[in-house]
Amino acid sequence: MRTVKNAVTLLAILYFANAASQVFIFELPEMIVKMNTTYLSKNHSTRLRCQIFDNVANLSFREVYWFKDSLSVSELPTKKGGAELKVDGNDLLILRGSHHTEGEYQCATIIEDIPLTENTTINTRLISAPVRLRKARITRFETFRSQTVRVRQGQVARMPCLGMPDVVPGPPDVWMEKEGHEGVPLGMTSNLRFVSTPNGLQIAIAQPQDAGKYFCV
Ligand SMILES: *[C@@H]1O[C@H](CO)[C@@H](O)[C@H](O)[C@H]1NC(C)=O
Ligand SMILES: *[C@@H]1O[C@H](CO)[C@@H](O)[C@H](O)[C@H]1NC(C)=O
Ligand SMILES: *[C@@H]1O[C@H](CO)[C@@H](O)[C@H](O)[C@H]1NC(C)=O
Ligand SMILES: *[C@@H]1O[C@H](CO)[C@@H](O)[C@H](O)[C@H]1NC(C)=O
Repeated sequence: MRTVKNAVTLLAILYFANAASQVFIFELPEMIVKMNTTYLSKNHSTRLRCQIFDNVANLSFREVYWFKDSLSVSELPTKKGGAELKVDGNDLLILRGSHHTEGEYQCATIIEDIPLTENTTINTRLISAPVRLRKARITRFETFRSQTVRVRQGQVARMPCLGMPDVVPGPPDVWMEKEGHEGVPLGMTSNLRFVSTPNGLQIAIAQPQDAGKYFCV
């Protein structure tokens, strides 16, 4: 949606550029959604504010329109969070976090008098990139079938951490341990053959003694 709007604006700018018959580079202003919390909480409200990113030209705007999952907030049905959202001036308040209010939020507005050349300005409608908001949560590891990773001696073994828990705010601290050596966080010790990644473990120059069962913690 945003790309389309920007394309339309660019066309407008090219047209104006032609009219003035001079070459110049103009950077489009960009709208962003700022929020005062990084995730939704059941007990607290979150305030979303529409801002012009890097507002060097000191541009201003008047009315702001809000969208959730591409639908206008003013027409949002209750089961999509309509009852828990409140427009407050140009801000949007998410009164409480719930699975209805989780989603992608965008703001749109018309920016007036964007200077193009000395005596030319335009008005343009801009929409922000979506901001995804989720409720704070922590789940257990999901159940999964264990997998076998086969590796030749001297090669690199990569083991994914399966059944990763859903954690907001993330990312969770996850590492791997080997059965029989519980309490040794692989990749976080002085043994540099083990490298811990956000979603698994890598073993360089695999050795026969690396064989065994590994699990995520
Ligand atoms: C939300 O409020 C309830 C009671 O009002 C409390 O038990 C709970 O711990 C609170 N949760 C958070 C995440 O603050
Ligand atoms: C965010 O804004 C809402 C609404 O103004 C307010 O109730 C809430 O306390 C604010 N949260 C933080 C962390 O400042
Ligand atoms: C930007 O505009 C506001 C109001 O329109 C004004 O108060 C402020 O001084 C301006 N800032 C700069 C840097 O020109
Ligand atoms: C812009 O407008 C002023 C005053 O109307 C005029 O003197 C000037 O020549 C114009 N500049 C251009 C580039 O048209």
